This record gives sequence, structure tokens and C-alpha cells, in this order.
Amino acid sequence: MGVFRFLCYCSFVIFCLLLFLPPDVFSVKKHDFKTCKDSSFCMRHRQLPKNSISFYVSKTVQTSKETVQVEITSMDNKKPLLLSVTLLQGPVFRFKVNEVDPIHTRFEVPYVIEQLPKQQTFSIEEDSKERMVLSAGDVKCVIMKNPLVVFVLHQGEVIVQLNKDWLLKFEEYRTKPMVTGGGDTKAEEDDEDNEEDDEKQEKEPAEQDSESKKDEPPEKEPKVDLEAGMWEESFKSHPDSKPKGPASVGMDIGFPGFKHVYGVPEHADSFNLRNTLDGEPYRLYNLDVFEYELDSRMALYGAIPAVVAHNTRRSVGVLWLNAAETWIDVDRPQDSKPMLKKLADFVTKTASEDLVTTHWMSESGIIDLFVMVGPTSKDVFAQYASLTGLAPIPPAFSIAYHQCRWNYNDDKDCRGVDEGFDTHDIPYDVLWLDIEHTVEKKYFTWDSHKFPDSKKLLDELNAKGRKMVTIIDPHIKRSNGYHVYDEATRLGLFVKQSDKTTDYKGWCWPGDSSWVDYLNPSAQQWWAGLFSLDMYAGSTLSLFTWNDMNEPSVFNGPEITMHKDALHHGGVEHRDIHNMYGMLMIMSTNRGQLLRSHNQHRPFVLSRSFFAGSQRFGAVWTGDNHASWEHLRASIPMLLSMNIVGLTFVGADVGGFFGEPTPELLVRWYQLAAFTPFFRAHAHIETKRREPWLFGEDNTKRIRNAIRRRYTFLPYWYTQFFKTSVTGQPLMRPYWVEFPQDETHFAKEDAFLVGPSVLVAPVMHQGSTNVEVHLPGTTGDLWYDYRSLMATAAPAKLTVEADMDFIPVFYRGGSIIPTKGRIRRSSVLARDDPLTLIVAPDSQDSAEGDVYLDDEHTFQYRMGKFLYRHLTYSQGEIKSQMAKQIVAEPNFTATLPVHGSQNFVSRVKVERVIVLNVAKQPKEAILTSGKDSRSLVVLYDAPSKSATIRKPDVNIADDFTIKLVKCD
Ligand code: NOJ
Repeated sequence: MGVFRFLCYCSFVIFCLLLFLPPDVFSVKKHDFKTCKDSSFCMRHRQLPKNSISFYVSKTVQTSKETVQVEITSMDNKKPLLLSVTLLQGPVFRFKVNEVDPIHTRFEVPYVIEQLPKQQTFSIEEDSKERMVLSAGDVKCVIMKNPLVVFVLHQGEVIVQLNKDWLLKFEEYRTKPMVTGGGDTKAEEDDEDNEEDDEKQEKEPAEQDSESKKDEPPEKEPKVDLEAGMWEESFKSHPDSKPKGPASVGMDIGFPGFKHVYGVPEHADSFNLRNTLDGEPYRLYNLDVFEYELDSRMALYGAIPAVVAHNTRRSVGVLWLNAAETWIDVDRPQDSKPMLKKLADFVTKTASEDLVTTHWMSESGIIDLFVMVGPTSKDVFAQYASLTGLAPIPPAFSIAYHQCRWNYNDDKDCRGVDEGFDTHDIPYDVLWLDIEHTVEKKYFTWDSHKFPDSKKLLDELNAKGRKMVTIIDPHIKRSNGYHVYDEATRLGLFVKQSDKTTDYKGWCWPGDSSWVDYLNPSAQQWWAGLFSLDMYAGSTLSLFTWNDMNEPSVFNGPEITMHKDALHHGGVEHRDIHNMYGMLMIMSTNRGQLLRSHNQHRPFVLSRSFFAGSQRFGAVWTGDNHASWEHLRASIPMLLSMNIVGLTFVGADVGGFFGEPTPELLVRWYQLAAFTPFFRAHAHIETKRREPWLFGEDNTKRIRNAIRRRYTFLPYWYTQFFKTSVTGQPLMRPYWVEFPQDETHFAKEDAFLVGPSVLVAPVMHQGSTNVEVHLPGTTGDLWYDYRSLMATAAPAKLTVEADMDFIPVFYRGGSIIPTKGRIRRSSVLARDDPLTLIVAPDSQDSAEGDVYLDDEHTFQYRMGKFLYRHLTYSQGEIKSQMAKQIVAEPNFTATLPVHGSQNFVSRVKVERVIVLNVAKQPKEAILTSGKDSRSLVVLYDAPSKSATIRKPDVNIADDFTIKLVKCD
């Protein structure tokens, strides 16, 4: 073994040992990760003073009813860029900035925009020396020509301003300058030339309109070594050869009239984004951050370069479609400058003085910016989904409870855990196997000593409706004879080193590994094929997949990830696609699961890394959290941030991955997570066993109840998942989505809603046995306590008791919520069980809701084999009929993908209807369905004012009415 190899080996061993040390010895190793000043392009952008370098429109290239293309030129270097503007149905404005004739093709992100929404036509209202005005209905785009600033207006209100602070900066590809001696470079000379040019230019076109800048002469750029890191840079011991040189892009995007802005996951930080100028910008660069810290803008495993701004009147969103390393500064300047006078004739509504500015900086690629006009947040979510795609309805088992740990050791262990759930009467649907189930971490293999007959195990679990998941990571052990390695090598499907020929090598769990190049369509196809039942020995159709370490995590790489100059298919540098590597992987895995069932069964894939569009391929979890109250609290803002930018099927490891939760923390975690979209317990290999029955009888009961609560609400969850699959609406919602005008809750992150109708206010502090709950809404709105069933009028702030058995949950007045009262061993076994409908009337004594049903695991629903029922209640009468559009989604409508032909044969009946807020004991209830008309018994509970209608036993597929009859 050479010295270098030996040293690598030692560092790998040390790395692994560190992973196994007790977590409290550690905290995040910040110095392993870059700050802005370690990323030269971030510094080059961040040091650009505001209003120092302007662009101007130098030429009109094309104007049509569908596209405007203009050349824009920087006062700095005079090199023209092409700005194109289109309007997409939504409405969504798309702004693209690229080089006119680059010496290397600039990377444009593939796969994210599945199908571009239809282009809309606009009229060019004006094209003068000063500005160009594009107009369509109530949206306008005003391009001020000199200096270049772009405004987007909706209904006479400016909602987005681009380059208002002149922070547009675009580093064109250029040839590497020759060193001319004394360390000076040709580039530096060029820069000096440019300085002279700048002076000339200051007197040229910018003078034509400098209204907004008159009083502030551009500050001179401070003389820092901005050349450093342009042509190569290194971090720690890792050089980055940067063969194409500097290529970064950046621009400021302002939201006038807004104070609140959310998004750009993944960060363990507050939901409402903070001002960053006093510290680090938010960083988007998918990384495996060991023991990540909270309240931090450090990058984590996933990246979605999109934000949503919200105020009491509207919401607006922006997607910055770039998969390279990206930093975002956020500011709320006090001295927001007055709008250019030139715009005044369009502005009919002046927004408040509030302003949030964001400054986006990416290492390479182009500027490809989508402005989602709203005006409601639900419109923005739909517009975002029209670009990046919808999260399809997952197989029903995957929204139930999952039991995982690193590791369930062998067949016997798995059976023991499985039986444990039955013995303790706790439902669960999925048992997970981490990396130790393989032969030497060779994915797609089973260690035959531990799992002599995996198919038998899978089949036995499947008989109880239960599934399994195995982990499959993207690093492939470099081991001759391992079929995955041999084939990928033979077919040339690994990422290459920067030398273009050698396969990229690094260290991960199996030791020496190479990484599959999922950008390569042949690799995608080949990878998908590995999941076929004959290729993946020991697998069955009830085995699903966990894609971990897909940032990608490279233990001995820069920042524990892949070198940026590694090469992908088509000579694309890793730097260009880094943030979408994980998404490309799960896309290929998802395809594999589809192929193995001949497109019959819905896939289920869990991923740690993600990008915009990942929602189409799987669920995501928040990685390696801690068994601490702080991490429990952090899970809500993290999951909300993902939910508002399309990534809806998300959760955090229940109990915390590292460390040992106290029984109290574990119980509280289960109680909260039962109301998050993805519900899985998981733990580090070195932690004590954590199955729900190991913490004493009382806690077993509490955990059992929390998990059962999830199963009770599954019909509501499944209906929400269906609606999200059609509308793009978040599953887990901040208050402002449902109560957009209630500013008091815009920064709220300690409570949330599931869909539109269920409010969850968890206990997240040690020793707490009550929660201060804010019930949003206006006078007349009602909320119902899940436990007492009593109504409270909104708006209200109440202290709700929350002993260890429960967390506060409320039903929204005006809703009908489908639930299931019978609990079985798994959700599959309960598929045909009857429903209990909970009717929570509003102050007008009416309510509506919906319930969606299908076979829960195939795509037959796409052929009309589903049922989507609209339930209404008014003045004592409940009605069920076929829904023709998405219902019970306040302030939003969407049509169903299939009309009229709902032909799913359901065996699901309604066994009970609980009507809340009924003033007096009803005499009876009369059910009418077709020709059948029957009297039903009604039990009345005076303290809670609830009336339980017993045994309607009518099929949910049938049209029916149930009328409460008052006593004489
Ligand atoms: C890291 C993942 O985040 C964790 O969940 C998993 O248990 C380990 N890798 C081992 O596979």
C-alpha cells in the first residue's frame, strides 16, 4: 500500500471511528464546511456594492407576442448578454439571462421542468427609449432600459423587482489569461482597462435615467483580491481545478410590500427567513453535515432554490432554477428607495413601505428565473407545481407508520420486532433495513448469514399487509466480482475524475467506491433495471427503497462531497449539477420500481438529498437529527419550509437519530410526528434499542395511542395526499396559508395545520403539560378540541392542558373529516373498514369535506377507478355526492384529472357520523339512499354537545343524506 493510500485509509478509519463515538462529544465541525469567504464567487458577488455597476438594454433582438429578447450590456465589461422574457400560464413570468456566444455551453438544468406550461401571449404596450412594457390581463412586466431594472406588477401593484440594486453580475466564460510576470495577469490588466471604461460609461447612457441613484454616487469597489480563486481554488487540502474558470451568476430580487419570506430549504433555521447581512447568507449546496447545528444558514442535504413571500394581501413566489452551489442573502432595508417615477403611471396600489430583498449568487449555469405571480399562496403553490411537477399519490402503506433503525440485525431480529408490534397491539406498515443487511455494503445484496431467505421474510410480512425497505446508496464498492460494480465499469456509467478517463474514486461506507453518473440516460436506464425482481435477488414486489448519502456524501472529498471538477455525461462538471445529483438518483430508482412491476404498482422511495422537482419521485426526511427538544422543535420549520416549495411528503426521524431520547421526549416526538406527512422512527447504530414497548407500560400506551391516532386519521391523510397530487398544495401548512390576512401568525412555527382542517399544537418543551394555542380566524370562526369536542370561537389564545397522553389538536369549524375507528395490524388490513365522519360545523351550522378512495397501490385511479366524494352538512342534514372538482379547499379550486367516470367499486361503509355543536338531543336521524329510508339511533353527549349517529352502514360510494330529526 502506497503512503498516500495508507494515509487515506487511516483518515477513513478515523472518520468512521468518529461516527461511532457518543454524540455528545461532538457538535458540527464547522471548519469542514465553507463559509461565503471560502467560496471565491460568493465573495465576488457579496462584495459588489449596491448601485455600482449597472446594465442597460443595448439592443432589441426580438419582440413578439410571446417572447421579448433584448441584449443587455454591463457598464463594467461591455459584453452583451441575452435577456429573454416569456409569460407562462399561471401566470408565471420567466426571465432567462445567458451569454450571447459563450466559449463553452452554459449548463441549463434538465429534468426539473417536466413540461413547460403553455406560453401566454402578451401585448407590448410600450417600447420607448426608456422602457418596454409587456401586458397580459392584470399582469405587467416593465423593463426599464437604462439602468436595467425589471418590475413585475399584478393588478397595479409592484410585487417583484429585479436588479433594483444593480447586483446583476454574470461572469462570462473566457480563456485563461496568460501570466505576464510579477504575478499580474492579463485579466487584471483587463480589469484596469475596464475601470477606465467605467469612468467613460458613467457619463454615457446611465445618465439618461439615474433618477433613483442621483443622490448616491456609486461607491468604488474596495480593493480586495477578487482575482483569487477565479481560475483554481482549494478548500483545505482539496484543489478545484476550475477548468472553465469563473462562471458565476447573481442578481438581486426584491419583494416590495413584503416583510415575510420563506423557503430555500434545507436549513435548520427559522421558517420566516432571517436577515443575513450581519453573517452568512443561506447556502444551498447539498452536504452530509455530521451533527448539524440549529439556527444556522449552513447548507444541509437538500436544496430548493425557491422562496414564497407573503403579506396580508397576497403571496408571490420565485424559483431560481440553478443546480450549482448557491448563496442567498436576505435583507429588509429600512431605507427602501422610492419607486422610480417612470413607473408611477402603472402603479394603482402602493404597497406598504415594507421590503424584503434577496440576493442570489450561483457558481455557474445561467439565470433562469420564474416569478409566480400568485396572488394567493394557493395560486403560487399551483404555479410552482405547474413548473416542477406534482407529487403523485403514494401507495397508502407509505403514509402509515414506519419502523426503522440502523440496524435490524437479521431475520430473527426482524421477526421479533414484527411480533413485538402485534403483541403490544401497535399498528405499523413498514420495517426498514439499513446498510448492515448487505454483504460488505454492496447494495442489492443480502448477507445470507443474517438473511438466509429474504423472500420468505418479505412474504410473511406481506401476509399481514406489511412491507420492507432496504437501503441503496449511490456509492458502489470497487470490488471485482460485484455485479453492480463490474457492469457499471464495463458500461462506463460512473462519474469520471477531472482527467476525463478514470472513474471517480472516493471513500464511503464500503471503503473504496465509485459513484453512478445518474445524469447519463444510459446509467438511469441501467440503474432502473437493477430493481427488476430477477436482477435484485431476494427482492419481491413488497420491497421498497431508501436512497441515502446521495448529496453525494464522499467521506474524503471536499466538504465530505464530490469534487466539483469531477465529470458527468457530456462533459458536464459536477459543479453544474451538484444540487440535483440526489434527485437524479431517486428519479432512476423510482423508474426502476415502476419497471419491475410493469408500471402497475406505485413506487416508494425515500431520499435524503433533494432538489426542485424531487416531489415527483419520492419522500424525503431531514437526515441525522438529535434526540433533543431543540431538534424536535426544529422539525416544524424545516418541514414547513419544504412543504411550501412543493416537497410535501416529508418527515423527521422520530426520537432523534443521534443520542438517547428520554421517554418523555420520545413520547412527545411520536405525538407530533403522527401529524407529519412521513412518519418513521429511526436511530443510530450505537443507540439503545427504541421499539415503542421498551419504555414502560405507561409510555408504551402513549406511543401506541399516538401511532393509532395516525391510523385513525389515515382516510383524511390519504384524501389530502390525493388533493396535493392534483393541486400542488402543501400537506403541512403554516397558519398563513389558511388565514392569509392574520399577520400575527406569519412567523409562527410552533403549530401548523394538516391540510385545511386539522390544527396541531404539539408539546415541545420538557416538563410541559400545557400548550398555549392560538386559534386563528375571524369572529364567527370555530375550532373544536379533538378530545373534548367542545367548540371555541376564533380568534382565541388558550392554554390547553396536554398531559403526557396527548397534544392539542383541533378541528376547523366548517369541516367534515373522514376517519377510521377500527385499528388493525397494518393499514392494508384496514382498507375496507368503515368510516367515521366527523362533522365540525361553522357558526352558520354548515360544513363540507371530502373523502378519496382507490385501491391504494396501483395506477388504476388514472383510469377512473377511484371515488372522490363531496360531503356537505347544513342545518342538521349530511349529504354525500360525487365530487366534480377539488372541494373543501378554501380560496382555491381545481378540476379533477378525470371527470364523471368514477368507477371504483368500494366496500367501505360509513359506520358512524359524529356531529359536533348540536344544541339538543336529536330524536333520531333518517338515512335516505336511493329507495332506502331508515331511522338511525342517535346518541347524544350533553357535555360535549356531540351527536353520534350510529350504523348508517351506507356505502361511501352511494349518494345519501342523513337528517337529524329534532325532538318535538
Ligand atoms: C446516514 C443516514 O442519514 C442515516 O439515516 C443512516 O442510518 C446511516 N447513513 C447509515 O446508513
